[in-house]
Amino acid sequence: MAEKLKDLIRRLNQIGIALSSETHLPTLLELLVREVRRFTRADAGSLYFKMGNQLRFQVAQNDTLTARKTALTGAFRPYPIPLDKTSIAGYVAVTGETLNIADVYQLRPEAEYRFNPAFDDRNDYRSRSMLALPIGNHDNEIIGVLQLINALDEKGNVTVFDSDHVDLVASLASQAAVAIQNARLITAIHEVFAALVRYSASAIDARSPHTAGHSRRVATYCLRLARAVNDQTSGPFAQISFSDKELEELNYAAWLHDIGKIGVREEVLEKVDRLTPAAMELIASRFEMIKLANLFEAELNGRQAGGGPHNPASEVERSLEETDQDLEFIRQINRAKWIKAEQIERIERIRTKTFRDARGQIRPYLTEEEAHYLSVREGNLTSEEYEEIRAHVLHTLNIINKIPFAKDLERIPLIAAAHHEKLDGSGYPLGLKAPDIMIQARILGLADVYDALTATDRPYRGAMPTEEALKILTREAEAGKLDRDLVELFVTKRLYDGVT
Ligand SMILES: [Fe+2]
Ligand SMILES: [Fe+2]
Repeated sequence: MAEKLKDLIRRLNQIGIALSSETHLPTLLELLVREVRRFTRADAGSLYFKMGNQLRFQVAQNDTLTARKTALTGAFRPYPIPLDKTSIAGYVAVTGETLNIADVYQLRPEAEYRFNPAFDDRNDYRSRSMLALPIGNHDNEIIGVLQLINALDEKGNVTVFDSDHVDLVASLASQAAVAIQNARLITAIHEVFAALVRYSASAIDARSPHTAGHSRRVATYCLRLARAVNDQTSGPFAQISFSDKELEELNYAAWLHDIGKIGVREEVLEKVDRLTPAAMELIASRFEMIKLANLFEAELNGRQAGGGPHNPASEVERSLEETDQDLEFIRQINRAKWIKAEQIERIERIRTKTFRDARGQIRPYLTEEEAHYLSVREGNLTSEEYEEIRAHVLHTLNIINKIPFAKDLERIPLIAAAHHEKLDGSGYPLGLKAPDIMIQARILGLADVYDALTATDRPYRGAMPTEEALKILTREAEAGKLDRDLVELFVTKRLYDGVT
């Protein structure tokens, strides 16, 4: 007897340890039902959680049906049970009583609850003995019901649940309640954190219409690529398999990769042309002033010359026309994707022209700063602005390095900070080369390029057609910048399809 008791305590202890070390709620619940069933030799068991005024099914296990290969999930259509005394589980949840029933088809006539035979009928199963216990937390609040069905004797025949087991199962259930609450808390913290990450990233993306929704789409492409890598049983990815935690890590890295754009000025992020619209307007109104000033000057010079026209009208007209042409030229340059050396020379010529303003001061047509912005050879950003944008990766690293990620998510900063690295070393911020760029960062880099090319929310450029974007990806892979195998997977599996 002493040996039996020792064995019992040892098993209970093991179950307790297993329960308290599991933080993933669905696994924890499966484990609880399985262990308690083993302990009581129950053929079947299920677990319900109290949610509002209902009991909602969480777990169902049934050895007989599993052996018959009846798909439990299909056969067992879980429906919520009202939180009242009419059902067995409801009664237990409402009253906190434990019910140890010998045969659910032979309930005492005075019992307030009834057995629902729907499950038995549907699955050709015969429930007989049942042990239904409340799961209470430390505040004595009932959070759910554990239902064990058909205790089996040594020979496998259905018998009544051993009353000696009831208290032990009850103590296990209350121990489980602590673990359940912990797991729920951990899940809630995870969900809050994930939501915070998504909202922050979306808010930062939305600062510029060019990037709205970018991080969300990049995360979608990343997960699709990683899952496609997992699916490969031959070829370059046959040996690579990302675990659930690694997928989670990649997902966070994708959502957070551009969070550092918070440190980049909006006018730079949103810049469409070389000059901001306000700066261009300022130049346009200055040129109107220049025309007036030139007219006025011509008039004045004419009078000083004794009333006769010092400047012939045609000369005045030419000057006005030239100013209009200069302004038109500046407008064109402002929108140009790239410009030639002689155009830069013409900008310089315009910059050195002067006029006399209303206060009689001599001023240049263009400020040095304006000329600097206009004279960018390619693109619309000056080298300083370009640097400011590139620095977003360092800001990203600084920000997410401060988040105390769990050990199994610790590479998030590393992955996120490498999203602009290229395999040939031409990327930034570190200019890493292929061997130093982990596959997660390659996935993220590819997803990032593809979305930047195809984003439909670019008001000034419109979306690039998919085929053209895929061609660019292939070219980048051939040039040794993007991972060839990943690009091939992305293209052949059409992982870009249907992402909006
Ligand atoms: Fe970026
Ligand atoms: Fe990005």
